[in-house]
Amino acid sequence: MDCIYKDPNAPIEARVKDLLSRMTIHEKIGQMTQIERSVATPSAIKDRFIGSVLSGGGSKPFDKATSADWADMIDGFQNGALESRLGIPIIYGVDAVHGNNNVYGTTIFPHNVGLGATRDSELVRKIGEVTALEVRASGAQYAFAPCVAVSRDPRWGRSYESYSEDTEIVRKMTSLVSGLQGQPPEGHPRGYPFLAGRKNVLASAKHFVGDGGTENGTNEGNTITSYDDLERIHLAPYLDCISQGVCTVMASYSSWNGKRLHTNHFLLTEVLKNKLGFKGFVISDWEALDRLYEPYGSNYRKSILSTVNAGIDMVMVPFRYELFLEEFLSLVESGEISMARIDDAVERILRVKFVAGIFEYPLTDRSLLDMVGCKQHRELAREAVRKSLVLLKNGKNPKRPLLPLDKKAKRILVAGTHADNLGYQCGGWTITWEGTTGRITEGTTILDAIKEVVEAKTEVVYELNPSADTFSGEDFSFAIVAVGEGPYVESGGDDPVLKIPFNGAELVSLVAEKVPTLVILVTGRPLVLEPSMLERIEGLVVAWLPGTEGRGITDVIFGDYAFHGRLPMTWFRSVDQLPIHRPRENYSSSDQPLFPFGFGLTNTDSYGASQ
Ligand code: GLC
Repeated sequence: MDCIYKDPNAPIEARVKDLLSRMTIHEKIGQMTQIERSVATPSAIKDRFIGSVLSGGGSKPFDKATSADWADMIDGFQNGALESRLGIPIIYGVDAVHGNNNVYGTTIFPHNVGLGATRDSELVRKIGEVTALEVRASGAQYAFAPCVAVSRDPRWGRSYESYSEDTEIVRKMTSLVSGLQGQPPEGHPRGYPFLAGRKNVLASAKHFVGDGGTENGTNEGNTITSYDDLERIHLAPYLDCISQGVCTVMASYSSWNGKRLHTNHFLLTEVLKNKLGFKGFVISDWEALDRLYEPYGSNYRKSILSTVNAGIDMVMVPFRYELFLEEFLSLVESGEISMARIDDAVERILRVKFVAGIFEYPLTDRSLLDMVGCKQHRELAREAVRKSLVLLKNGKNPKRPLLPLDKKAKRILVAGTHADNLGYQCGGWTITWEGTTGRITEGTTILDAIKEVVEAKTEVVYELNPSADTFSGEDFSFAIVAVGEGPYVESGGDDPVLKIPFNGAELVSLVAEKVPTLVILVTGRPLVLEPSMLERIEGLVVAWLPGTEGRGITDVIFGDYAFHGRLPMTWFRSVDQLPIHRPRENYSSSDQPLFPFGFGLTNTDSYGASQ
């Protein structure tokens, strides 16, 4: 009789038990090791029994590599794993946080803050489904998503990765897990990982726990709160992920009351695994072990000891894996890390791999390639853009709303740093880790969309940056000025000032002085809106970070669809008010927000209605 673990009809727990019993210590600690593609080779994966490989943000085989090129790379690594003594396949992880966003030509959806503005959990589930398919087409089987942070301060550089400041909205949007993994059947055992099939991917609820609640929004900072508030505000979305069979949870770099999450046995083991019954595996964040002690990378042995014993099951090393394996082995041989802890971690990893069907289907299903970036997927992204837009002002005069705009207008001005910039529309985590400017992938900019939607006889004049000396503003029916934030990620996005970058406010005021102006704000979070600018403009739409489908914006501003979006974050007047978030039953006169959480006009509303 062949090994039970190789029998797809055997019960999963029997397969786990059988395979575990056959593994050496080297094979066990190898399974707990995740390495970056740039240091991975098929032979290293085979010889060191590596359990997982990842792409760090933007790490690709080569520039403009297609999904098929990615599949070739990943299948190459996988064949190395399949040649190992027990033939345990790897899982390949990517940050598919708004589509399969590392890969050229894929569908890029709005970032989470825009999805929070939709309040539409079924839409988000569908986005998960499409994202999973495009990820599997590239050969990867594991997405480091959803980020279920509850962002309590827009100064946080990852605020746009959060669906909302409000826990209940974040809880609703955990439907992404069911989209990515498939929906578990009735009666699925609570806490047990689930994955439906070959068009689905493992999800990773992140970053556990309280990453969005740090003091002053400092990334990787310290969340100071009672356990009850931690549970009520930040832990609640994890219960929803676990109830959907989430396969993995990623630990947060941040601390809770001064204790790093990565070494927090109470939260990682006693709460997440024992109290909440999570039976998937916990993965560390990128180089989190190196960042535990100053200077960077010091006390590495102590880092391995304290994180694995706290409940980390797989370590995203990701580069220095020889050193990691050497120190790890020594800690196990000395008994400082028990074999029971190792077996618990490896059982969890194997369980997820068996649940995911990776043993039966280790290589890419190339039939999925035709669906990558297809019209149907882009239409879903376009719908998400439409539903994410929030209308904050519509006409200086309530009786003369500016919107919807006239497709038959004689001559319109389109201006601003974000009018014709796909990279800015997509933001961070797109093609590269930080994101970048320009035509970075296939998609539709705001300017492209406007040209497609107006009448042939309408003259569209584009000026990136109208100058005060020459701009006359004559003969324009109206202007559409798109300004906002450039791309950023993680600590690079921490910002205590939150002004519109690239002199966006000045550009808006220059144009609005002479032409009726609609401002489209492309931003990952609320920004300072000076009253003088607000008074001058006729209309203001927040587009968040919409991704590749710019037509979703023109669908609404030209009236083919109504506005639907509501603010997922309180819009402050001044950064001195921060943090300012729900629940705030009553604001004192000094800390009234500019626009309250949940604010959003419809086409026929006019600004001032609730000011
Ligand atoms: C990053 C992020 C995490 C991401 C991981 C892999 O530092 O904190 O969200 O999934 O590393 O790229």
